[in-house]
Parts: sequence; C-alpha cells; structure tokens
Amino acid sequence: MGRKFFVGGNWKCNGTTDQVDKIVKTLNEGQIPSTDVVEVVVSPPYVFIPVVKSQLRPEIQVAAQNCWVKKGGAFTGEVSAEMLVNLGVPWVILGHSERRALLGESNEFVGDKVAYALAQGLKVIACVGETLEQRESGSTMDVVAAQTKAIAERIKDWSNVVIAYEPVWAIGTGKVATPAQAQEVHASLRDWLKTNVSPEVAESTRIIYGGSVTAANSKELAGQPDVDGFLVGGASLKPEFIDIINSAT
Ligand code: G3P
Repeated sequence: MGRKFFVGGNWKCNGTTDQVDKIVKTLNEGQIPSTDVVEVVVSPPYVFIPVVKSQLRPEIQVAAQNCWVKKGGAFTGEVSAEMLVNLGVPWVILGHSERRALLGESNEFVGDKVAYALAQGLKVIACVGETLEQRESGSTMDVVAAQTKAIAERIKDWSNVVIAYEPVWAIGTGKVATPAQAQEVHASLRDWLKTNVSPEVAESTRIIYGGSVTAANSKELAGQPDVDGFLVGGASLKPEFIDIINSAT
C-alpha cells in the first residue's frame, strides 16, 4: 500500500477568535479530496483546539503544537499528552525547530517526548531539519540523522509517526527548498530509516516537507517521489491552504 499524502497546517502562535472562525469556515467550505487520498490535520494554539475541533468538518483532524514530556502534574504552563487524549486530539507536533532553537529542546528531549506521546496513544508529527549554517557546512544529513536517531532509539512502532523535514532556513523566509533539494534529503532520510530501523518502516513512513510551502510551489514539490505531503505554516492561515491540500491529486 502506498503512503497516503499528508497535509498539516501549523498555525503557530497566531489567531484571534474571529480569525479562527474565518479559517474554519474556509476549511469547511473548501473542495478537498477524500480522506482516502489525503490526510489533513490542522494545528491551532491550545486555547483554540476545543472550538476548532467542535466546528471543523470531520474529514480534517486536529493536532496540538507540543505536549509535555511525561505525565502531567506540577509543571506550570505545560499541557500533557494525557490531556490531549482526554480532549480527543489525535495528533501532536513535536520537535519543531522554533522550539528546538528558542526553548532549547535537545534531540534527546524531543525523542523522549515522541516516545511518551506515542505511548499515550497520540500520533506524532516529528520535525527535523538543519540550519543554514549546517547546510552550508555540508552537515545537513548528519544533523537530520542525529535528530531522527534520538527518536529511533526510543520507539519501536513507527506506524503513528510522520516525519516533517523542515530546513530552518526555509521556514517563514519565503526561501523554499527546491524540489530537488527536498527530494535529496527525503530520500536520504528514507535510506537512513531503511538501514537503521527497517525496510518496512522506511517504505511506509511518511516524510513531509515544511518551509515556505505555498499554493505556487506545492504541486511541483508534491511530484517528488519521496515527498509525501507538507507541514505548512504561514499559508495554512490563508485560503490557499485548500489549494495546497489539493496538490495531493
Ligand atoms: O511547521 C511549519 C513551518 O515551520 C513552516 O512555516 O511559514 O515557512 O510555511 P512556513
């Protein structure tokens, strides 16, 4: 069975109640392919999750943008995986580069979070990606492999994991990776999974691309054999997200 195309919309720390209503309306009214063809997940800030979840068409799922590394308790400001499960939130994004860079999340910490979230029954969009400096010094694959390894060392079952390759230099910059650049890293990552996890996991795990994806570049990126979808930031707040979803077909 082929890998089902996956499109995630990461709203990051954006939105007011009015804006959220508008985005949900656009998503509910847009023409999108059936869930047999594409899996669509949007990730609002925690505070908007209940309202989005209750108003969104059932074909579109919801993700949180983070969760705590272990069972909840005395961790002020955190939200636990158990709470997300309790709310019926199926997905969580972990290891986004903004959290790695701004909040100091290490590979090991992200790996622990992925393992804990999966064990609680969440599905995980695990983010990896290199900085511009790392790309220019030729260490892209070492960086991405080390980030993936920290996850691989902590989990056995990859069936509920989607890997998002998000080169940091492409995030929010308008500097999208070329289809060839994306394909090169996705193929190397798949190869890494084949060697270090298993050929089955390499074949079945979706590797999606994130970083300045728009309706203007999504079709060509989607045409690459190892690009199984997208994690979209800025453009997921706009009506063009519907076109990006449609690049699955
Ligand atoms: O997680 C999505 C992301 O970091 C890409 O953001 O705004 O470049 O599409 P953007």
